[in-house]
Amino acid sequence: MKTHEDANTMTQTPPNKYGFFDDAKREYVITRPDTPLPWLNYLGQDEFFGLCTNTAGGYTFWKDAKLRRLTRYRYNNVPYDLGGRYFYVNDGGEVWNPGWKPVKTKNVAYECRHGLGYTRIVGERDGLEVETLFFVPPGENLEVWKVTVRNKSAQRKTPKLFSYQEFCFFDALNDMTNLQRTYSIGEVEVEGSAIYHKTEFRERRNHYTLFACTRPIAGFDTSRDAFVGIHEGLHEPKVPFAGACTNSIAFGWNPIGAHQVDLDLAPGAEESFAFVLAYVEQGDEPKYDAPFVMNKKVGRAIVEKYSAPGAVDAALAALKKYWDDLLGNFQTECPNEHANRMLNTWNQYQCMATFNMSRSASMYETGIGRGMGFRDSNQDLLGFLHMIPSRGKQRILDIAATQLSDGTCFHQYQPLTKKGNAEIGGDFYDDHLWLVLSTCAYIKETGDVTILQEPCGYADKEYASADAQENLLHHLETSIAYTMKKRGPHGLPLIGHADWNDCLNLNCFSTEPNESFQLAGDVKDSKAESVMIAGLFLYAANEMDGLYSFMGKAADANRMRAHHAEMLAVIERETWDGEWYTRAYDAEGRVVGSKSNEEGKIFIESQGWCVLGGAGANNGRAKQAMESVHKHLFTKNGVVLQQPAYSTYNKDLGEVTSYPPGVKENAGIFSHNNTWINLGWCLLGDGERALEYYLSICPSAKQDQIETYRGEPYVYAQMIAGKDAPCFGEAKNNWLTGTAAWTFVTVSQGLLGVKPDFAGLRIDPCIPKAWPGFTATRRFRGNTYQIDVKNPSGVCKGVKSLRLDGKDIDPQAPIPFVADGKTHQVEAVLGA
Ligand code: GLC
Ligand code: GLC
Repeated sequence: MKTHEDANTMTQTPPNKYGFFDDAKREYVITRPDTPLPWLNYLGQDEFFGLCTNTAGGYTFWKDAKLRRLTRYRYNNVPYDLGGRYFYVNDGGEVWNPGWKPVKTKNVAYECRHGLGYTRIVGERDGLEVETLFFVPPGENLEVWKVTVRNKSAQRKTPKLFSYQEFCFFDALNDMTNLQRTYSIGEVEVEGSAIYHKTEFRERRNHYTLFACTRPIAGFDTSRDAFVGIHEGLHEPKVPFAGACTNSIAFGWNPIGAHQVDLDLAPGAEESFAFVLAYVEQGDEPKYDAPFVMNKKVGRAIVEKYSAPGAVDAALAALKKYWDDLLGNFQTECPNEHANRMLNTWNQYQCMATFNMSRSASMYETGIGRGMGFRDSNQDLLGFLHMIPSRGKQRILDIAATQLSDGTCFHQYQPLTKKGNAEIGGDFYDDHLWLVLSTCAYIKETGDVTILQEPCGYADKEYASADAQENLLHHLETSIAYTMKKRGPHGLPLIGHADWNDCLNLNCFSTEPNESFQLAGDVKDSKAESVMIAGLFLYAANEMDGLYSFMGKAADANRMRAHHAEMLAVIERETWDGEWYTRAYDAEGRVVGSKSNEEGKIFIESQGWCVLGGAGANNGRAKQAMESVHKHLFTKNGVVLQQPAYSTYNKDLGEVTSYPPGVKENAGIFSHNNTWINLGWCLLGDGERALEYYLSICPSAKQDQIETYRGEPYVYAQMIAGKDAPCFGEAKNNWLTGTAAWTFVTVSQGLLGVKPDFAGLRIDPCIPKAWPGFTATRRFRGNTYQIDVKNPSGVCKGVKSLRLDGKDIDPQAPIPFVADGKTHQVEAVLGA
């Protein structure tokens, strides 16, 4: 790919005090363990996942962090991150961990490399180097922990290595809370180097956890009390300090898995071996060989597979290939190093995590709370569909099946059961519209309209077969119809418990600390309306118009245009406040987000969505709304959600007023919605603002303020503290945020303008004037497009000429798509 050496904007970020990007290896290298907060990585890409911090902390689960938790983790621990994949080294009586924690022995050299789907942590002390590598091979339901021990000293060394992790009894909430039961049910078996955790296997479970070493062991422990002690902590466990396992068999209390490996290394010698931590389903195999002796056939096969020479390295190579292939779907070389690095690697990687985890399991989400969110998962798809559209398709159908036949949706569902969570219920009146966005994004990516005919059913109806009453298209129509119908006194959509802003609760009126902000009040017969949903509706109606036009259904497209026109008229008539769009009307019909309010005069979401939906396009309001955002909400760390921040609790507005000024929805910088403003700038053609706004929330660009920022430099944060907070610029809730998908959309489709459209790929960049151009490679419906954009006259937007394989084509239209699986050259020249 061509680079733009001539672009003098190309710079190198200096490393921060804690680490640096190794862009060539696609790794973030952490050079000291005492990071400002634990810096997390995820292992796993399909159904089996682990959280792994830079000191090897974290836990493992299969599919569902709540119902299939394999290893334990205590949230909000002291320190924050304690418990995980630990190795204790006893080298001549000195005990240390390669990942520094938990013993925190002095003078241990340390390096952690978070890569794509793996974490490598190396520790060295006194000439002994221990390298640990954690990953989940593609398609497998297990973690591999590879260990390499090297004697770099001039003396023979006989170190002992102890593995350690604590088993969880699958149902994570019960495991944490129901001790009167859990202390009595723990069961294990040990066979050779393999520890089988089989709690509840005797009753209704047909699965267990296996923790095995691929090398002969000198001993093991399965009782936490025996290995750690009763009054000891993980920083001073009995066995590693004593230097010998006790071969304990847990009966009740707290089962763990610990192996002892004794090594004998000549100077310069090294030895490599591995551990596997697997979720094993017994399938049709008989459960028992003999009373109380489980049939271990399936587990044994796994241990054998990974004990074979070369098996671990082959699995690692498969993982690398997997990510190279996936990321190869989109790569760019543009004049901004942050945009390059984030877009080419980390942003897409984060999109995989949000697709898989939704908002369930991170350092901020305990995995026992929310499952998959209806609106969240629909938005996550926007950054994922270009990688694995087939998985995206299945997800869309799963989500759609949690919609109810009246158009409302279960707000969340459990990934294991795929059933809506009844405790939270529905009535968040933006939810259903996001399904329109994700479905249209899928069709734009794939061209596959047959998804619309897929049966998915409604959660409140029993359907026997595929018919038009339950297919996906029916769901989209139901969604559009719902918003058209359920409108309030001003003609705007009703809000229900909340719209995208979960904390704008106009029907809650809670005065009791024990109540839920969202669910306390009754939404039935409420009049509270949302301008943000109105704007989102405009966008959704446009999408449906485009879809029907593509399908040659002119009457349906016209119907959507009529809906758009009707809602647009309402927005322009009822919500223009002079310099920006208002946010809502409360249950009493009072305006929210207006200059007439004392606090919360201007909100970000309605500016973003009204502009993206096409409001203000012909009357100057779009530009003015965006300029108002710039004037009142933009800061060097991003756009705050509203201003002025609420200083007192107001039950009529709900949770948004409960947060201290400057955090979360109360005037925090909610990165997610910053992207809508960025896209707005792209729509208006201001490439300088688009890049400036993007960099304001971009973690890679925050390294010179890492002590303030504190979060991982390689993933977007949900929230950065706003200007009203004492910790302005501090990131929280990193990883699991809609920011991941939306930033991918913003930078790849908005700034770089490489946009999937129904008829084909569209090229419509909006870049800073100083950019001489950029290149990108985009795989699309089986073809590969090598895109070269040139900007000879220094404009932001406007494709003057477009060539496909050397032939001029219409610069304003999508590139005509012909499926030939070939590589095509696209040259775009910007200019007036
Ligand atoms: C969180 C929620 C998301 C919501 C947003 C704003 O990110 O997961 O559903 O839209 O907060 O409140
Ligand atoms: C979303 C918001 C958070 C709020 C929560 C309420 O996650 O981001 O601020 O407290 O919803 O459920």
